[in-house]
Order: sequence, then structure tokens, then C-alpha cells
Amino acid sequence: MKKIIKNGTIVTATDTYEADILIENGMISQIGKDLSSADAEVVDAKGNYIFPGGIDPHTHLDMPFGGTVTKDNFETGTIAAAFGGTTTIIDFCLTQKGKTLRSALDTWHEKADGNAVIDYGFHLQIVEMNEVILKELATVSKEEGISSFKVFMAYKNQFQADDETLFKTLVAAKELGALVMVHAENGDVIDYLVKKALEEGKTEPIYHALTRPPEAEAEATGRAATLTGLANSQLYVVHVSCAEAAAKIAEARNKGIDIWGETCPQYLVLDQSYLEKPEFEGAKYVWSPPLREKWNQEVLWNALKSGQLQTLGSDQCSFDFNGQKDLGKEDFSKIPNGGPIIEDRVSILFSEGVDKGRINLNQFVDIMSTKAAKLFGLYPKKGTIAVGSDADLVVFNPHAERVITSDADHMAVDYNAFEGIRVKGEPVSVLSRGEFVIKDKTFVGKAGSGQYIKRAKYGETLSAEKKAVPQS
Ligand code: URP
Ligand code: ZN
Ligand code: ZN
Repeated sequence: MKKIIKNGTIVTATDTYEADILIENGMISQIGKDLSSADAEVVDAKGNYIFPGGIDPHTHLDMPFGGTVTKDNFETGTIAAAFGGTTTIIDFCLTQKGKTLRSALDTWHEKADGNAVIDYGFHLQIVEMNEVILKELATVSKEEGISSFKVFMAYKNQFQADDETLFKTLVAAKELGALVMVHAENGDVIDYLVKKALEEGKTEPIYHALTRPPEAEAEATGRAATLTGLANSQLYVVHVSCAEAAAKIAEARNKGIDIWGETCPQYLVLDQSYLEKPEFEGAKYVWSPPLREKWNQEVLWNALKSGQLQTLGSDQCSFDFNGQKDLGKEDFSKIPNGGPIIEDRVSILFSEGVDKGRINLNQFVDIMSTKAAKLFGLYPKKGTIAVGSDADLVVFNPHAERVITSDADHMAVDYNAFEGIRVKGEPVSVLSRGEFVIKDKTFVGKAGSGQYIKRAKYGETLSAEKKAVPQS
């Protein structure tokens, strides 16, 4: 079925203009003034912006972690993402030492295939690097179209990999055309600080933040950047939370190291004091890196504005307050790390960023969609509004005002991290490859309609420019 989206204001990372969009076979076939087609469904977008669908490059759905499993799976998590204006996610496929990468990917496909309502890809975790893994990595990354590998520098005795593994992964990634992603915190130092705090009887949620200081994040960020330069490779630092880590990225970029940085909505609007909420409520805000002192927020906004940080991931990793977060009631180190963020990522960026004048509209689109598409091999199929691109589109009302609440959201958990925050702007309708997933704020999609996306190699889509040119 053809569709024409009429009367909206199209916004890409480079342009803002009024035009209609004709959609055929799931793709944008024409952009221009006063388009018509006898057999097309007409969608009136008057007064609304049309954005390319959001791309969330950092999600953990249906993931075992901290002695439990994330509450949101690929069905609930992608429905919530769609409500929030995201049409593609890239989830982290966990691997295990001694097991094949293929078996890990099969497991992740079982979780996602037939369940996701929007398109998805996988980053592949690397926990060890040897000749066998290297050989398999070359094969599976090609077969699966995976051009990003993830290394954790923290979570000792669980996910943490050593520097040798990180360095070898950087070398392999250069060879294979992949981007190495790091969780940059010094896991050994944090492990020491956590044990010491517990010995001293410090068990409340706030000690999660106090035992993971900014210096631990900055040190690991700087180390990963240095190793990247040494390997002449490429690096993407996930969930940058503080000024010190952002400065390490800026410093490395100034030296010409190929390094990129992502922050998350939670670090832009919440702060360390949330972990001090009484009645164990601080546990709702336990994730890693932790929330920081409030002054860091403006530094992160400025880094996004100036391009020293480039993307916004949700780091969606949701656990119920009752029944999951309370695993750590007597010991903060047992609180499952992570929060429910996927649904509010785009709205927080628009409201706190564009509406409050911190970033402009085109920067907003770049940060919530286009840059991730370019970095992770999805562009220009995803991440822009152009003839030939997938019709992944968000009809967004910039004037709507609402208060974020757990009651109104669509994530599976029993709380919302942004409860009570007033936001301006709201996705009204969301299309994935030309089909409505959300229509007039109602879910009309189908579990399983999301497709697995094979991605291009790192660098191939990075500098590609494809502008939408109105045809009439
Ligand atoms: O606390 C967090 N961020 N949980 C998800 C895993 C990770 O470190 O990204
Ligand atoms: Zn992480
Ligand atoms: Zn994460």
C-alpha cells in the first residue's frame, strides 16, 4: 500500500524544509511539493515535524545480568522504543568464554527473531581473543553483517576483558572493518573499592556511585583511546557519564585518534543525588557508570553540541524495582545494574535539547539517528529521509506537552527513571519500512515485523552524504 505523508516539515541532519513524502514498497520513492497518487493512503502531518526513525545503538533486551534477566524483552522493549520514536535498535549479543560466537548469535536470534516490532542488529561481545575466535569472528561478522564488537573493561569476574584482549580486538577490528565499543571503567579498581566499602558496612545504593568514581571511567577511557591509537584502529566509547571521560575523548580526537563517544539521556538530566532517595528507592537509579554530580550535565550537553560526543544510546537494561532491584537490599553490589530508558531517549533529547535551546533541530536528528546510522553501517538505508531510504519515519508534534510517568509508558518495568519530568514534544505516529507501528499514539504493529539488519563495514557509510532533494 502506498502512502503519502503530506504537509509536514521534514528534518534531517542537514536540512529542514516542507515537502510531501511518497512511500512505496517500504521505501521513500519521492519527496516533493504537492505529491499525489490515486491509490495512496494520505497521512496529514500538518504542524508536525517528520524525522528519520530514531536509531538506538545501545540496548540490552532479554539479557541475563546480575543474577536475573532484564524485564524488557525484544517484544516489549521494541514496542516501547517505537512509542518513543525509535525504529532501529542495535542490541548487545553476549558471548561466553569457551563457547562459539555462532552459538551466542543463535541465542540472540532466538530472542529477537519473531518478536521485535522494529528493525534490529547486533553488536558482538568479545570476551577472549585467540586464533580460534579470530577465525570465527572473520566468518560470523561477514555472515551476519556485524561491524561492531564490544569489550567490557569493567564487571570483574563477569564480563571484564583484559587489555591484551582489548588490544587484539582493536587489531582484528581494523582488519575486519569493525568499530570496537568499550564500556570504559577500571574494573579492577572498582572491585577493590566495592569490597572495601562493604567491609566498612557501607551497603546503601549511594555507595554504587561512590565506589565507581569519575577517575575510574576517565582512566579506562584514556587507556582504551591510547590502545586504539597504538593499534591504528577505531573506537566508540559507550555511555560517557562525566566531564573527565568526555575530556579524554576530546583529547584523543585532537590527536587524530579515530574515537567516538556516546552519552545517554539519564546522564543529561539525572544526577548522583537520585541514588540517595530513601526507602531503597535509590536502587532504581543504579547503573554503570553511575549518575554523576549535576554540573557534569552541562559539560555533556556542550560536548554533544560541539560534536565531541556524537550519539545518544539508551543503555536500556530494565529491572523491576520490586523483585529485581531488591536483590541488593542488603548489599548495593548485588543491585542489578541498569535502567528503563528506551522509550524516553528521543523525547528527552528533543525537550531538554532542542526546546531548551541547547542543540538545534538538525543536530538533534544527527544525534538521535543519523550519526549512529553512519557509524554502524546502516546509512543511508536508515538514518535519513531521502529517496531510496527505508521509510522509517516519525511524525512528531513539537507542541505537545506531557509528564513522563510509569503508568503511561510501555516498558515492562514497575517504574520510570524520568517519573514526573515534564517534556515538550511527542511522537504521534511511527512508521517502520512504510508500515505504521504507532498510529495516532496507538500501537498497531505486529510482533515479528522487525527485521534483522546486516550492516556495512565500519567506514563505508561514515562519510556518505545523501541529501533529500525535493523533486518539484
Ligand atoms: O548498568 C548498566 N549500564 N547496565 C547495562 C550493562 C552495561 O554496562 O552497559
Ligand atoms: Zn556498560
Ligand atoms: Zn549497556
